[in-house]
This record gives sequence, C-alpha cells and structure tokens, in this order.
Amino acid sequence: MKLFDVYPLFDIEPVKAIGSRILDSEGNQYLDFYGGHAVISIGHSHPKYVKAITDQLNKIAFYSNSVIISLQQEVAEKLGRLSGYPEYNLFLCNSGAEANENALKLASFTNKRSKVIAFKEAFHGRTSGAVACTDNPSIIAPFNANHQVEFINRFDLNAARASIENGDVTAVIIEGIQGVGGIYVPEPGFLEELHAICKQHGTFLILDEIQSGYGRSGKFFAHQYSSVKPDIITVAKGMGNGFPIGGVLISPVFEAKFGMLGTTFGGNHLACAAAKAVLDVIEDENLVRNAAVVGEYLIERSKNLKGLKETRGIGLMVGLEFEFDITQLRQDMLFNHKIFTGYSGKKTLRLLPPLSINKNDVDLLIGALEAILSKE
Ligand SMILES: Cc1ncc(COP(=O)(O)O)c(C=O)c1O
Repeated sequence: MKLFDVYPLFDIEPVKAIGSRILDSEGNQYLDFYGGHAVISIGHSHPKYVKAITDQLNKIAFYSNSVIISLQQEVAEKLGRLSGYPEYNLFLCNSGAEANENALKLASFTNKRSKVIAFKEAFHGRTSGAVACTDNPSIIAPFNANHQVEFINRFDLNAARASIENGDVTAVIIEGIQGVGGIYVPEPGFLEELHAICKQHGTFLILDEIQSGYGRSGKFFAHQYSSVKPDIITVAKGMGNGFPIGGVLISPVFEAKFGMLGTTFGGNHLACAAAKAVLDVIEDENLVRNAAVVGEYLIERSKNLKGLKETRGIGLMVGLEFEFDITQLRQDMLFNHKIFTGYSGKKTLRLLPPLSINKNDVDLLIGALEAILSKE
C-alpha cells in the first residue's frame, strides 16, 4: 500500500529533535522557526515532557470517558489558572478542527440557530463545520458546503453588525490572530465591539486560539490583548507539543447535558499526561514571558531586512511580508542555512518557533535572511 498523496514534501527526514533543533537522517542539524505548524510550544522532546508521557505509558495509556480520569481535572485546573479562565469548563478532544466543530455545535445547541459568521481568509480546520467556516473553496467539498456560513471582510464591524442584527446568527468564529491567512492581529477595540454586538443579539463569540494560544502571542491567549472574555475558546496545537489533543474552554453560561458532546479518544491518559507536562513547563520556564520578550526582539531585528514590506504579529507569531515571491528564499533558508520557516501566500514568511527559543536563535535567523537577501 502507498500513502494517499496529499502532501507536497521536502526531501528531509527528521529523526531526532531537541529544543529548537531538528536532526535529519543525513546528520544535518536545523533550527526550527516553524514548530511544525505552531505545534511545538515547550521545545522538542523536553525531558519533563518525555518523562511524563513515558511514566504514564508504564501505568495506563487509555481508557474511555466512562471512568474517572483524574488527569483530565488536573489539566483543566492548571489550564484554567494559567490562562485566567478558572471559572470556565473544559471539553477535551483530539485536534483543532474537532475543537472548533464542538464549539460550533455547542453554540448551536444552546441558542438553537445555525448560521455562522466567519472571516475572509480564516482557517478553522477540515472537519465539516470547521472547513465550512474556512475561507478556502479548494478544501470545501460539496458535502461540506451546505452549512450556513457568511464570510465577511477581516475586522469589518459594520458588516458583522448588519448580519448579526438579523437575529439568526448562532456564533461568530474568529482567530485570536489570523494565522494561515498571513498573521493579522485584530485592531484595538475590534473584539470588544464585536462581542458587544454579539451579546446584544444572543450570538456567541468563539475565539479560535488553536494557533495563537498557549502563550504564542506573549500572553496566554492572543485575545487577552483585548478585554474580551469570549463565550467559547478553542485550543490544540501547542497544548500537546506534538501529542494530539484539543480542547474547548466553555463559559459557565453553557449548560452541559450528558451525551451532548463526546469522543472516544479525547482526554485519554497519555494525552492528558502530555498536556499537563506542557503546562508545567510553560509555567516553570516562564515561556509566555519568553515569547513576549524574544518576539519583540525578533520583530525589532527584522525591521531593516532588504525588500521587507511589512512586519505583522506579536510574540512568537510573526509574519514578514516581502515585496517579492519568497519561494526561493524559503528554499535557501531550509537547504543552505538549515532553518525551517513557514509561509502564507506567495510573499509572507510565517515564523512560529518553539516558545523556548532565545535571542541567539533570532540572531541566527536574521543573519541567514540578511545573507540571502544581500545577494538578491
Ligand atoms: C487557527 C486554526 N484553527 C484550526 C486549525 C485546525 O487544527 P487541526 O489541524 O489540529 O485540526 C488550525 C490548523 O492549522 C488553525 O491554524
């Protein structure tokens, strides 16, 4: 059997990784400024994380959600405390798309509406509801296309208001920082006004913090640069540092009913051991603060790069938009300078490194970019 060929691949096979470094099967070492799509939060193979998962594996790896799994409560308590949402409830699942799917379902169950507002260029995942809220027609199959989703321009409050006022919108879903679309931070005051309109008309605000959360922005959640407390917050990616886990943080206004949401694997022992270790390391090593400080340094150091049109982002979620197509630049970074980076569109370099990187790592990145750009 062959693999279903849906991913264009780099000809590189990572075989080991530690901190912000990756080793491939040829013995090359790479600096990771992409974190495998923003997944690596505490750094690759952190010893406390490896030990927590290994110890758990030697005890019990899995049992279904029909028994007490105390680790779930431990994750919920620590996540509540570190994120500033101790009064919210947590539903555990396995991925970002699944978290959004459950968030949308929960909103719809509660206010009995079905229309959703999402934003142009948003990415929310590939399950049916999540992909219907993703503004990329090429990944929406006819089967997914029947959801009632209206896409409005990024940060267009008037369009949001006009639609929400009709009283039939179950939820507005928005990323804490738009990631796949090119790293766009909501303008000051936007989320507050959006939430106020939602509240007035019985519409829920879902903050997708799957990419922007877990400290990446320099605060636990990117929306915490505003004063908004969303009705529902979704997390995944950095939550497990590579171990698949997702979560839905649910405001106390929502009432749980047995059977309303569910999953076989969500919240299993191993995933919770991983998630708990991630939170422990984030706290012990002050990684949210590190993301803020090193992120600011990165943004400052990137300012004079040749051909740079705009720097966007905050913390360690940074988009560098150039005046030219960056395909060759990324190839040079990867194959000649051994640095992983991401992209958005043709011109934006997307940087999503582990939250544990330091200023020296930033200097290596900037040095490599300067070396390539000086030859242009
Ligand atoms: C903002 C956002 N939401 C949702 C998802 C989907 O997460 P997953 O791939 O874990 O389903 C992603 C993945 O890139 C994302 O960036």
